[in-house]
Amino acid sequence: MKLGTELDALLRELEIEGQRNDSYEKDRKKKFLNLERPTAELIHVLVQASRRKHVLEIGTSNGYSTIWIAAALKSCDDATFISIEISPEKLAQARKNLTRAGLERRVHLMEGSATDVVASLRGPFDCVFFDADRVSAPSQLRLLLPKLSEDVLLLADNALSHPEEISAYKAVVEQLPDFVCTLTPVGKGLHLAWRRGV
Ligand SMILES: C[S@@+](CC[C@H](N)C(=O)[O-])C[C@H]1O[C@@H](n2cnc3c(N)ncnc32)[C@H](O)[C@@H]1O
Repeated sequence: MKLGTELDALLRELEIEGQRNDSYEKDRKKKFLNLERPTAELIHVLVQASRRKHVLEIGTSNGYSTIWIAAALKSCDDATFISIEISPEKLAQARKNLTRAGLERRVHLMEGSATDVVASLRGPFDCVFFDADRVSAPSQLRLLLPKLSEDVLLLADNALSHPEEISAYKAVVEQLPDFVCTLTPVGKGLHLAWRRGV
C-alpha cells in the first residue's frame, strides 16, 4: 500500500528504526513495539473504508500506528483523534514523527496512564484501538462503554501473541450485546469487535 512518496519514506524509516531500537534495547519499556506493517495497513483501510470520525488510540509509542490512523482520517475535516501514551519520552518522539508526517494537527496526544486518561474523556468514539498493556484494557473498555457510538469498531492487537493477557478483554467484549467479533491472523493477531448499530 502507498500513502504518498514522503509519507511512505517516513514510515519505512520508522519501521527500520523500530526494529533497530527493539533489537538492542533491553528495557521493554523503551522498546517501540510498533505494529507490523500489514496490521497497520489493515487498520488504515478499516478506519477509512468504514468512515470512522472519532478515533481513540491507547498506546501511541513513537507514533507509528498513529501516523497510519491519522492518514486514514486526513480527508475528513471534522474528524477527531486522541492517542494516549504513558511514556513522556515516547510521546515526544511521536510528536516529532507526526510533525514530520505533517499530521500533528490531526491528533491530540495525551500523556498518562490510559485508564486515568480514558476516565477523563467525554467521547463519543466510533473506533477505539487498544494497543497498550492489554491487561488494563478491560477497565478502559468498561469506562468507555457509555462513550461509544452505536456502530463502534473496537480493535485490539496482540490477540495471537499474548492470548492470556488479552483473554480478559476478549471475555468482556465478546459478551457485549449486538457485537460481532472476529480475530484476524495478521501480524500479532488483530481482534475486531463491531456493534451493528440500529
Ligand atoms: C505496543 S506499544 C504501542 C505501539 C504503537 N501503537 C505502534 O504501533 O506504533 C504499547 C505502548 O503503550 C504504552 N503503555 C503501556 N501501558 C500503558 C498504560 N497503562 N497507559 C498508557 N500507555 C501505556 C507503552 O509505553 C507503549 O509505548
